[in-house]
Amino acid sequence: MRALIALTLGEPFGEHLAPTRAAHAALELIGSPLTVKGELIAWEGVAEARALAGITDVELYAQPGDLVRPHDQSGHKIGLVVAAGATAADASAALDAATALIRPVIRPTEEDSVNSPRPAVRRNASPYLYGGEAAAVAQVLESGQYGHSDVTEKFEREVAAYLDVPEVVAVESGTAALHMALLAAGIGNGDEVVVPSLTFAASVQAIVAVGARPRFAEIDPDTLCVTGASVLEALTPDTRAVMPVLYGGRAVDLTDVAPVLAGRGITVVEDAAQAFGSWHGDRKVGAFGASGTLTCFSFGPIKNLTCGQGGAVVPRTAQEAETIRLLRMLGIRQSQADRIRSTTYSVDTFGLRYPLSALNAAIGLTQLARFEEIEAKRPHLWRTYRDALAGIDGVALVDVDVERSVPFNCVVRVPNRDPVFADLQSRGIGAGVHYPPNHLQAAFAPWHRPLPVTEQTAEEIMSLPFHPAMTEQDVGAVVDALRKAVAP
Ligand SMILES: Cc1ncc(COP(=O)(O)O)c(C=O)c1O
Repeated sequence: MRALIALTLGEPFGEHLAPTRAAHAALELIGSPLTVKGELIAWEGVAEARALAGITDVELYAQPGDLVRPHDQSGHKIGLVVAAGATAADASAALDAATALIRPVIRPTEEDSVNSPRPAVRRNASPYLYGGEAAAVAQVLESGQYGHSDVTEKFEREVAAYLDVPEVVAVESGTAALHMALLAAGIGNGDEVVVPSLTFAASVQAIVAVGARPRFAEIDPDTLCVTGASVLEALTPDTRAVMPVLYGGRAVDLTDVAPVLAGRGITVVEDAAQAFGSWHGDRKVGAFGASGTLTCFSFGPIKNLTCGQGGAVVPRTAQEAETIRLLRMLGIRQSQADRIRSTTYSVDTFGLRYPLSALNAAIGLTQLARFEEIEAKRPHLWRTYRDALAGIDGVALVDVDVERSVPFNCVVRVPNRDPVFADLQSRGIGAGVHYPPNHLQAAFAPWHRPLPVTEQTAEEIMSLPFHPAMTEQDVGAVVDALRKAVAP
């Protein structure tokens, strides 16, 4: 017998359905796009949905230009999907797959238009804009000063004030920040730098870029970060630096091994790309220069604070700040303003060209002025996930120390990860994996060593969609899909 299921986009449509199915389906179909009221700009995913096996009809009642509004009980509907299958479960599965693909693109008529169309659950991560960024960039464009400028220096001062540190040196990316910090710490040929394998390739490439060797360290399976013990285990006579990675935004506490590291002349260069705004005890991450830690941030597109592209090093001393400023500007000491008034300039040392453009700094300044919204939104989103995930068998949330962190992501461990990942993707949920381990990458093969905890972890971790434009309903939609994916 063939079962036929019809669902209405935009209202619970129960006449030809079992009542419970109708109620659930209506929620699935509405999805997050219809949490806003606005003008329908376009439909996405309709052709793909129509092409799915089991889908017999997709009708679009609302057309581009129509005003649409959030689902309510008054019968406001914008479309219909009909699926048929050998069983109700087959038809239902086809329906789920189709409705995960179909997305009405809506230009909101209500306040939140900056983030329109809502990236919601399809995106694993997404930049978050407050609204002033475009005007700030336009102002710099009109000024004609696009390189390092007083806008960049204002950004440096404001980041320093936010962190409560004397100085910050802005550079063009988080990778550049790591590269500069290692150079400033005197790391080079023949040296070894301890780094977790479970990090973005950028951490490792920065080590290789200075001519040093990465020495991969194990992680704690609960935090996905190195520990004092795993760092000690990885040390060799050649170790000159340790690069803890603040995975997901949580601080890494190495105070228990600090005396050993200091005694051996080993510098701690923190990769805090994901941890802008997080706390370590009663100070912000980045405020530990006095205890010998060099901290590097990324202000890349999806980071807690974005410059579009950007990064920063928090130097330990004024002299180190000066060294990094020279390094980031080709070793030239004179400012741009001084250079244009002179017939010459002096190249004092080796250097690279890594300045933060004023265009990017302008975005960062706009973001920093409203960063307290992110300091509230990201932990709230993470807690919403934590509550929604509680009790799903086979899914373990990786803790991010949310009381002290501005979480960068939401990572779960799922034993049979790959099919679950594929299932979520097929439902239109932007699951991700951060990261495939570096010690298994071809480029880093010379430094491979067995890391069983990392290898097992890397097969199980999955990052759920996580960005500040997501709503509690979006989290609910992701978790519902995950529940189905782990127990199909
Ligand atoms: C852990 C980690 N390290 C380094 C980087 C490099 O930062 P960027 O992309 O700004 O170069 C990133 C971000 O991409 C990161 O997540």
